[in-house]
Amino acid sequence: MSAPVVIGPATLYNADALVVLPALAGLDALLCDPPYSSGGQFRSDRVQDTRKKYVRSGSSSAELPDFSGDNRDQRGFSYWAALWLAAALRACRPGAVGMFFTDWRQLSASIDYMQAGGWVWRGVVPWCKPDARPQLGRFTAQCEYVIWGTAGAMPGDPMAATIPGFYECSAPRERVHVTQKPLALVRELLRIVPPGGAVLDCFMGSGSTGVACLQTGRRVVGIELYPVHFESACDRINDAHRQGALFEHADTAQEQARLTL
Ligand SMILES: C[S@@+](CC[C@H](N)C(=O)[O-])C[C@H]1O[C@@H](n2cnc3c(N)ncnc32)[C@H](O)[C@@H]1O
Repeated sequence: MSAPVVIGPATLYNADALVVLPALAGLDALLCDPPYSSGGQFRSDRVQDTRKKYVRSGSSSAELPDFSGDNRDQRGFSYWAALWLAAALRACRPGAVGMFFTDWRQLSASIDYMQAGGWVWRGVVPWCKPDARPQLGRFTAQCEYVIWGTAGAMPGDPMAATIPGFYECSAPRERVHVTQKPLALVRELLRIVPPGGAVLDCFMGSGSTGVACLQTGRRVVGIELYPVHFESACDRINDAHRQGALFEHADTAQEQARLTL
């Protein structure tokens, strides 16, 4: 395993998550966005390029790089997901909160493989996209989901603030990764992590979790397999670091305005 890139409170590995995770310990939370291996009902749909699956035709995002790990069939995907979730659990401290994104097709499997990986499943937080592609004569598939749980028991904290269980927010229009998540949403999810806590993002893509961690005064350990996405993550996290933790939130006014809580 090659040495990580360290940018202030961010430690970033360009590697396979399953190689790095066994070397980590004591992290305060998991917040990640793994490949969904979705984008269709059937094996033939799933093996398509990620840009074909997740980008509207005609969008400029169709020019962005592809990413790996998104073409497994259901059994292989669930098996792999249980492996990385188990390794992530061992990298976290007892009581840590675990969160990861999924879509409607993988929702039921996600709940199973989180528990197969040893996490206590605690719930599902919908992320509703108000401008999702409408579907004629059928319900619009408008939500993605954050599956959350804990590494063992989660004692109640009578002093803690309440946190919503539902978010409405558009996906970023300007992006460097086909499945880039909105910073405003990720910052909201981080409210469950104590300030200063260390967050694991083992599928960091363009580094949205890392940027949000730096913007909210958390530390981050990020892992990304594809060099092109790793470079994007380093650049974005470096920018966030330079702008300063706890600085005025750096995402566009547009994205901020679209987040309804
Ligand atoms: C859904 S994307 C994450 C996008 C990210 N949330 C963002 O905002 O840019 C998942 C990422 O995981 C990476 N990946 C896939 N398999 C991996 C593995 N085994 N280890 C580390 N990263 C992996 C992919 O290359 C991809 O960039």
